[in-house]
Amino acid sequence: MLTNDQLDKWDRENFFHPSTHLAQHARGESPNRIVTGGSGVFIEDRDGNKLLDAFAGLYCVNVGYGRTEISDAIAEQAKELAYYHAYVGHGTEASITLAKMVMERAPKNMSKVYFGLGGSDANETNIKLVWYYNNILGRPEKKKIISRWRGYHGSGLMTGSLTGLELFHKKFDLPLDKVHHTIAPDYFRRDDLSMSEADFVAHCADELEALITREGPDTIAAFIGEPALGTGGLTPPPAGYWAAIQKVLKKYDILLIADEVVTGFGRLGSMFGSLHYDIEPDFITIAKGLTSAYAPLSGSIVSDRVWKVLEQGTDEFGAIGHGWTYSAHPIGAAAGIANLKLVDSLGLVDNAGKTGAYLKNALKDALGEHANVGDIRGEGLLCAVEFVEDRSDRKFFDPSKKIGYALAAALLKEGVIGRAMPQGDIIGFAPPLCISESEVDHVVSAFKKAVDSVL
Ligand SMILES: Cc1ncc(COP(=O)(O)O)c(C=O)c1O
Repeated sequence: MLTNDQLDKWDRENFFHPSTHLAQHARGESPNRIVTGGSGVFIEDRDGNKLLDAFAGLYCVNVGYGRTEISDAIAEQAKELAYYHAYVGHGTEASITLAKMVMERAPKNMSKVYFGLGGSDANETNIKLVWYYNNILGRPEKKKIISRWRGYHGSGLMTGSLTGLELFHKKFDLPLDKVHHTIAPDYFRRDDLSMSEADFVAHCADELEALITREGPDTIAAFIGEPALGTGGLTPPPAGYWAAIQKVLKKYDILLIADEVVTGFGRLGSMFGSLHYDIEPDFITIAKGLTSAYAPLSGSIVSDRVWKVLEQGTDEFGAIGHGWTYSAHPIGAAAGIANLKLVDSLGLVDNAGKTGAYLKNALKDALGEHANVGDIRGEGLLCAVEFVEDRSDRKFFDPSKKIGYALAAALLKEGVIGRAMPQGDIIGFAPPLCISESEVDHVVSAFKKAVDSVL
């Protein structure tokens, strides 16, 4: 067996890690955790640590670690048929079954699901389909996409552009010019502190409408948003936000892409965020919770109105020129079927709602009065605590102090993984949906200790 030192050396010499300070890592200045196993909400590493993963990997291991129902299904599928493609109408029992299961759970106005591999490629698919849709309808100018600051939609060329976080644009020549950003639905961070929540919602809708009219409604094809902001701060929308936004989009005939990579399959306590907030999307992006990350698989669910135009397009122009070698990969599909069955049999959607409310209350009880806690928010098992230097006038810390990273590091010392979100001093909690109340108690008491030690 390889020693930890040997693996550490190979890692630093050979492995280009995503979202990592490359130079520090290569120089050995940043930690290198080699993960070996997991069970329920815990992971283990080669140094013998057992950590409660209160971020479910990258908020994706929704059913928890070590589920043999899924690993057995993957093994069975690999033995029977590890691969066949899905081009020109080919399918496998697994991919066809999973498509049916997804559509049974999706909002009623949705029609079909296209399978990809990850959230980024699914959003790339969505944007191409939006452009195709408008070309088929004879509106070649209607191509721009509106996203929100603080939105996260992936890190490809187009999806990195849609993402509204500075880190993902800086030095990459992004965003591309067809992408425009409007304000984030982040009430806590509103510019004008005197605004009520209702005023702020009206302001978000006005800002969106102003952007559309400035650019020209005939040039705006679609709006993309996560039902509740994820990587941008784990921020549920202010009450009435989606109704106000959809009203503007309808007025200008703009398609709506609900990016449910995080919220799909239960995280908010509803099967989809679209159902939770009464959103009627034209596209839904799914990934993470589709397989609980036991295998890579994503999807673009398209609505009836989009599907009709896609059919018209292929009748006029022939087969759709879009697909990946690994679209609808049977191993991913087998993982998806076993995963969705577990989500149902374990009642995880309900648990996310109930235990999520318990988590938010426990965080409020433990930290609600702390002088540096500006906001405690959440919906289902998507919760965050945002820290400020002074809560009386919502003065943020100087980012160079890296308070969020210090808090996440202190929490790790207490045996719990929370995530320092990339923009702001925000610690995110998005544990596996199977987390119990006693495990939540463990997270919150560890976090209280971490906060006391840093602040
Ligand atoms: C809302 C959302 N969309 C898209 C993505 C991109 O997914 P992936 O990392 O699988 O490409 C993510 C990833 O975190 C996400 O949170």
